[in-house]
Amino acid sequence: MRKFSVKILCPVVGAFLLSGFIAGSSLYAQSAAGASMHNKNDPWWRHAVFYEVYPRSFADSNNDGIGDLNGIASKLGYLHELGVDAIWITPCYPSPQKDFGYDVSDYENIDPMYGTLTDFDHLEQQARKDNIRIVMDFVMNHTSDQHPWFLDSRSSRTSAHRDWYIWRDGKADGQPPNNWISDFGGSAWTFDAKTGQYYYHYFEVAQPDLNWRNPAVEKAMFGVTRFWYGHGVAGFRLDAVDTLFEDPLLRNNPIGKDGEMINKYNDNLEENHVVLRRLRKVADSYDAVLIGETWTDNIQQLKQYYGANDDELQLPMNFMFTTINVLSAPKFRRQIGMMESSGEWPVWVISNHDMPRSYDRYGDGKHNDQIAKLMAALYLTLRGTPIMYYGEEIGMENNDPKRRQDVLDPLGKTGWPKNKGRDGERTPMQWNAEKNAGFTTGKPWLPIPPSYRTHNVATEMRDPNSILNFYRHLLELRHHNQALLYGDYVALNQNDPDVLSYLRRYRNQAVLVVLNMSGETRQVPLDLSPYGFGSGKATPLLSTLAIAPPSGHLTRVSLDPYSAYIAQVDLSESSQR
Ligand code: NOJ
Repeated sequence: MRKFSVKILCPVVGAFLLSGFIAGSSLYAQSAAGASMHNKNDPWWRHAVFYEVYPRSFADSNNDGIGDLNGIASKLGYLHELGVDAIWITPCYPSPQKDFGYDVSDYENIDPMYGTLTDFDHLEQQARKDNIRIVMDFVMNHTSDQHPWFLDSRSSRTSAHRDWYIWRDGKADGQPPNNWISDFGGSAWTFDAKTGQYYYHYFEVAQPDLNWRNPAVEKAMFGVTRFWYGHGVAGFRLDAVDTLFEDPLLRNNPIGKDGEMINKYNDNLEENHVVLRRLRKVADSYDAVLIGETWTDNIQQLKQYYGANDDELQLPMNFMFTTINVLSAPKFRRQIGMMESSGEWPVWVISNHDMPRSYDRYGDGKHNDQIAKLMAALYLTLRGTPIMYYGEEIGMENNDPKRRQDVLDPLGKTGWPKNKGRDGERTPMQWNAEKNAGFTTGKPWLPIPPSYRTHNVATEMRDPNSILNFYRHLLELRHHNQALLYGDYVALNQNDPDVLSYLRRYRNQAVLVVLNMSGETRQVPLDLSPYGFGSGKATPLLSTLAIAPPSGHLTRVSLDPYSAYIAQVDLSESSQR
């Protein structure tokens, strides 16, 4: 099963461990070799901040209650000021919208509800002026059942597109070909009476899987990417990239001890990588980036998506953070450590349109704004590329449906009441405190949570202590601070159960990040001497402390509950000698 239903838990508060400050020597020259791995010739996507736009919910220019491309274009100024370098737009192609665009019926056009291809070109050109690149969503695994390819495929056993999808006879007793289960519930096989066979769908019934073993499918789908490169897109986020291939023998999947199916024969097959290497070649010829929706069980599996020769995805998403639904310094430290030791370029994500918002997942109900800043300080100061989710920067919260009849998401319909679906994290962007949060003058397609009165762009722009302004400062820092751009990662105070602290080092400077993940004030010792910055002088860059953040030669720093302290540390003259 994929991980669409993330549980909301409370922050952990634990004990604390210290280590003392010792005036430092300069080990940096020997130990910072890793820092030279990254340099100013890095490709654009390495240091870009990506921002996911869910087009239905971002901005509605024609007031029909659904966001659109012209709406996005009208907000480019905001995105530019925020410090976003690229937007990933979730599918806006023609679609019956059974899975809100992830059921594509025409890959080379724009759904009229979002505008036209001309609107897209306009958006792309406007964005280019603001130095914002556009990344499209490439739904590779399946089409809509209304796509002309599938309509032809299901029309007869001998149709031209029959083998573009996966058709099989049922078992002798009339049961589906095997025990595979759809991610949306029920069998992954649906019987089609017209031709008397079953078709396979990893996801919803209306999302038949393409047969990637058929070269014609690859040719057509690669052609789709070329079409969009021709329209100026800078790359793709590859949807469900781990599910492209299935076992040719269609063997039954094993069932785990917990009774859940292990998708051994229809997930993460080796053949995926072969196709990705070829897709990468096409991308390279356009200098484009491929981002993967790579749900993996561990870093080893994730590592494979980069390709043994760096010839698959440049940015496979690391979803491990999204499985830590508790504020736990050791858990985050561990995940960061594993990612770092993989030797690959990390891609950090804390939420998206498939999981409850980070504001709710990490918030304790009382300090959510503080915690939202804390989480931002974490994933935006790490080495790697971050992918933000719209509204995260203003502390948008989930607004789950209260009644089954209000649910729109197919996953919520089948999963109710245990799984209320994903509507809650897809509500309209909160632009101001006016009617419908300034999203539309029509009826918003999903209800807006009451928090829009306080958590909206206009209000937060005016408040220097808002989550939004914290994000803006962070992104500004990320773009200009050499250590944040090019520095390596060094974990500090590694046994601390509550405070996550680390250095990002680059040449003779470093950025110190200290994040108190507990609800208690914590004294954090700072011994930077083993890392070459022992007598370094700290200059605060950004903090959420109630008092003026400390500066100078620090031996420790006192952190309020859930607070963040970020400081520049420069090698003192003595330590450079
Ligand atoms: C992953 C997408 O993020 C999700 O929203 C969608 O339902 C599935 N893939 C199927 O396309």
